Amino acid sequence: MQARYGVTNRELRDYSTISPSAWALLLMKSQSSIPFAKEAAELVWGNAVPASLADALVLENAPRRLRHFESRYRSLDLLLAEAGLPNVLEIGAGLSFRGLELTQTRNTFYVDTDLPDIAALKARLIERLASKPLAGTLRVQALDALDSAAFQAATGSMPPGPLAIANEGLLVYLDEREKAQLAANIRRALLLRGGVWLTADVYVRNSGGSAPNVSYGRAREFLDRHRVEQNKFKDWAAAEHFFAGNGFRVSRKLAHEHPAHIRESWALVVA
Ligand SMILES: C[S@@+](CC[C@H](N)C(=O)[O-])C[C@H]1O[C@@H](n2cnc3c(N)ncnc32)[C@H](O)[C@@H]1O
Repeated sequence: MQARYGVTNRELRDYSTISPSAWALLLMKSQSSIPFAKEAAELVWGNAVPASLADALVLENAPRRLRHFESRYRSLDLLLAEAGLPNVLEIGAGLSFRGLELTQTRNTFYVDTDLPDIAALKARLIERLASKPLAGTLRVQALDALDSAAFQAATGSMPPGPLAIANEGLLVYLDEREKAQLAANIRRALLLRGGVWLTADVYVRNSGGSAPNVSYGRAREFLDRHRVEQNKFKDWAAAEHFFAGNGFRVSRKLAHEHPAHIRESWALVVA
């Protein structure tokens, strides 16, 4: 399609249609001890959570879903702590406040990014949530992670030294070609700067057909529309193959303790 029409997927696709997933995740995480989630949800909705979102909280598998997403969130915290790098770029950060938490406690330079609407809302929320001086620097900015020039500009504007580039909940919304574009953007930045790619998104397809962590109704329709199950890796070997084929070596794997073992978080370095 690219050769024939001279356009890329990125120009054809409206990625902001993915952004409602960030709202749903914030609401779910507001039921957990994840820093700032409860406070942010209160600022956003007060006592008036829209029914379209609130429904998901009462579904039978809601506790399992919450455990899944909380574990995913914590796994990225752990990989970031292990990497111990002072520069962090989070992509597709949605309405999660890891950057605020980290910069409150550590002298980290944290660039927290997502598409423009989410980044703008996030910046407004952080103004209300940040109650004490930061030990580090937190920058919230818009970044389409598939835009090569914007990606290099974002990483180029960070202080010297290696980078930790982190993401969760993004790869499953991207097809093979989009994932490869993202990997190329990250690889180029890491070649220049050194560092590591930390992704909590190594999901493999459920052999039973439907994802065990997925609810029914509206949430399920949303995931189907975005081909989330198809976008997952076919199996663990396919995941390894994808990252190796795009110039990365796995340096660390964290397995998610789910009975069906559907997700892992990996640290990747340029091969
Ligand atoms: C499932 S949410 C995950 C949000 C957050 N990481 C979390 O786990 O709570 C996916 C996020 O990816 C963002 N996103 C989608 N396409 C993107 C793109 N091309 N560049 C940057 N962010 C994107 C959406 O706006 C949304 O916030």
